[in-house]
Amino acid sequence: MNTEVIRADAEGIRRAAELIRAGEIVGMPTETVYGLAADALNAGAVAKIFRAKGRPADNPLIVHIADESGLEGLVSSVPEMARRLMRAYWPGPMTLIMPKTEKIPDIVTAGGDTVGIRMPSNEAARALIRESKRPIAAPSANTSGKPSPTSAQHVFSDLKGLIPLILDAGPCGVGVESTVIDTTGKEPVVLRPGAITPEMIRETLGAVEVDAHVMKPLADGESVRSPGMKYKHYAPSASLVLFEGEHGRVVREMCARYDAVAAAGGVPAILGSPQDDFGQRRVFTLAEAGNAEEAAAHIFACLRELDDAGVTAAFCETLPLEGMGLAVMNRLGRAAGFNIEHVGGPA
Ligand code: TXA
Ligand code: MG
Repeated sequence: MNTEVIRADAEGIRRAAELIRAGEIVGMPTETVYGLAADALNAGAVAKIFRAKGRPADNPLIVHIADESGLEGLVSSVPEMARRLMRAYWPGPMTLIMPKTEKIPDIVTAGGDTVGIRMPSNEAARALIRESKRPIAAPSANTSGKPSPTSAQHVFSDLKGLIPLILDAGPCGVGVESTVIDTTGKEPVVLRPGAITPEMIRETLGAVEVDAHVMKPLADGESVRSPGMKYKHYAPSASLVLFEGEHGRVVREMCARYDAVAAAGGVPAILGSPQDDFGQRRVFTLAEAGNAEEAAAHIFACLRELDDAGVTAAFCETLPLEGMGLAVMNRLGRAAGFNIEHVGGPA
């Protein structure tokens, strides 16, 4: 199959919507990451998403709507906390888990009785949903196990030959996937951190819980509330090690470890900020020091660049687990297999 990459202008959106209505799948820009879109009410179309990504069948998809009327018929009830979160943060990078109706095919929710719904703020995504006249099921448009795509080129690199069309609206502004919040229990639970932070949720609802697996690996035989947590996502081919501790010591330790890898014939790299002095060593810029939003916008492109450059070992400093820092550390942590070393002895 020939894969076309076209601008997400009126003509592009018209063509993409036509494909969606015909049961095809297309690459779709959103403010978080690019999605792989299909008609959420067409089980055959949704099956194509799982095939193209190589996605395990037990990992449910998020359903995207363009406005609140789009919710109708998809969920059997809207919990009060979900209503308040929608009012505060939709359209935007937030997915709400709610009880589903019969209308949503089982393949979308991996047989579960809840569905994740999101109203993206990206104009091209909203236009595509409106013009398709369908709710749109869309996971991130990467091959399963690769970093999420934040540009149309990333989607092309993973899925060329497997999908007919990719809408290009430039790089994604947020850069990490939406915050996933379970609203079916007594308290709101963040299953995946994103740009709508726990601090913001607490501000809106007065309470928030963050699932423990956001910052730790799954133990053998342990079960999770969100199937996505159990897969080793965002894994670069390079081994990634994270360092926490006093900043100056962390920089020195990263340099020492880098030099050891180089001396042993490996290909080392540092994910760092331009303000720090790493000498002549190879640095992939994650963000200016302390800018978690910028780190979020760059992290997935950085992980892809490590692979493209054949890096065998990469080193990166941790970010504080607050605000957007939690979302970045969740992705870095998973890419590193939660391999975090404390520099200067135990914390
Ligand atoms: O920003 C995003 O959310 C992007 C863009 C394209 O909208 N989409 C995205 O989809 O990241 P995906 O499929 O890559 O990640 C969805 C995550 C997975 O971890 C999945 O397990 C979880 O949400 N999820 C989906 N439905 C769920 C449900 N009913 N209950 C619990 N977790 C769910
Ligand atoms: Mg994904």
